[in-house]
Amino acid sequence: MDQFVWKPGFALGITEIDLQHQTLLKYLNECIRYASGHDAIVDTHGIINDLKSYARLHFTAEEALLRKVGYPGSEEHQQRHRLFEEQVAQMEQAVSNGEKHAVTSLVSFLRDWYMQHVLVEDKRYAEYMQAKGYDKNISIW
Ligand SMILES: [Fe+2]
Ligand SMILES: [Fe+2]
Repeated sequence: MDQFVWKPGFALGITEIDLQHQTLLKYLNECIRYASGHDAIVDTHGIINDLKSYARLHFTAEEALLRKVGYPGSEEHQQRHRLFEEQVAQMEQAVSNGEKHAVTSLVSFLRDWYMQHVLVEDKRYAEYMQAKGYDKNISIW
């Protein structure tokens, strides 16, 4: 599976969030790289945990920002983050059980999720913030 390359078009125009999304992409690429290795199940375990920890940190920051700017879709957005965490936990279980193709499924899920969540759902709050005139260097906390 190919590495996922950050493109300028991925930017939401919110400095701190864009940096976090780039870091998240780095973790995702680590997962892709490990999943392509010959000992994928063992190797992927630690790197999935790194991705999960970073995703948790990012979600906490993003949810705080959405509350701060009074984003109307805040509640729904949070639920989408929780759903992601549940889905990853389930797929991770399949990886631990040694189920066939579980690592590949998890990695392709992460790729699809990134495209849909970051580039579509996150983009919605960025457009809202832009319309409201928030500064791109807004501090999250
Ligand atoms: Fe995000
Ligand atoms: Fe999000």
